[in-house]
Amino acid sequence: MPGWLARRGADPYAHLVRVGVLTGGGDCPGLNAVIRAIVRQGERIHGDEIIGFLDAWDGVRARKTMPLTVETMRGTLPKGGTVLGTKRGSPFDTESGVEEVAGTIADLGLDAIIVIGGNGSLTVAHALHEQHGMPIIGVPKTIDNDIVGTDVTFGFHTAVQIATDAIDRLHTTAESHDRVMVVEVMGRHSGWIATYAGIAGGATMVLIPEIPFDIEEVCRRLSRRHERNRFASIVVVAEGAEPVPGSLDMHDRTYDRFGHVLLGGISDVIAREIAARTGFETRVVMLGHVQRGGTPTAYDRVLCTRFGVAAINLVHEHGWGQMVVARGGEIVPAPLALAVGRSKPVDPALYDVAQVFFA
Ligand code: F6P
Repeated sequence: MPGWLARRGADPYAHLVRVGVLTGGGDCPGLNAVIRAIVRQGERIHGDEIIGFLDAWDGVRARKTMPLTVETMRGTLPKGGTVLGTKRGSPFDTESGVEEVAGTIADLGLDAIIVIGGNGSLTVAHALHEQHGMPIIGVPKTIDNDIVGTDVTFGFHTAVQIATDAIDRLHTTAESHDRVMVVEVMGRHSGWIATYAGIAGGATMVLIPEIPFDIEEVCRRLSRRHERNRFASIVVVAEGAEPVPGSLDMHDRTYDRFGHVLLGGISDVIAREIAARTGFETRVVMLGHVQRGGTPTAYDRVLCTRFGVAAINLVHEHGWGQMVVARGGEIVPAPLALAVGRSKPVDPALYDVAQVFFA
């Protein structure tokens, strides 16, 4: 029996009522909608007490909490960001981190922790469950839509809508000046946002990390399009897009303190090359964190609400080590292990559809 469990005494799950919730990693629209649904279903249907941890794992370790009730969550459904705050980082970063988490679970008398997070947070959740037997359940979040095991993550469709609205606006100014617009979207090492927003926004080309691009070919296609008297092109580029090795001089990579490569800025390199090789006037638009801000779409609000209700129900089924996922229209449990160390690439069939409309 793990140490933290022994401290709770015999039969720790006899009265399953205290549930901790945290939001980890980058924020995204819909986090509050998930928390609200957990609280509503937990408090009203199961009679649970829900405790929120502030600033992700830092809050668990330092016992920085806030009560989460139907009353405190009122009005938060359309609110972007997270009422709990969030941070990157993990209890495994320091020697005493895991022991501190175990101490918090024991001392606060928690029966479960629900981790709402992306690849990094779900990997930590999996390790705490697998290696230390902690009663953890995950909810997959990220605008990047790159978590394996779920058809979709919440926040993704909102980010796509924001990017699409931006591309719609860029068409008219690009056409007025007969310019090439290079629009950079987020997504880390996956091209889901780029592909969806490219199709929805009628992009001339979409460059994604899954398929290295040849800048010469990009320029050839743009020139051909202009020769056919079609002016103004929108090139959507995912921040993690990569050129065919050796074909383009990229700036040196920098890394954050967790060893993740810092993305952002590839659009500048691409725009410079397009202007130099084609002579077309070219401008850059980096959408950046705008894609993570503001209110979730109706689709995401519904998905978040379904995820939240399913997550607290899974707590009552003792579904430790699992996350709630969307599969074929259903919300079902799946092992957290699926999300560890992998990321879901863009469906090639979807990218083929985007390509139909390329220059
Ligand atoms: O994972 C979500 C995401 O928005 C990525 O698309 C992006 O690369 C990264 O987070 C940005 O991180 P930060 O908010 O730390 O700059």
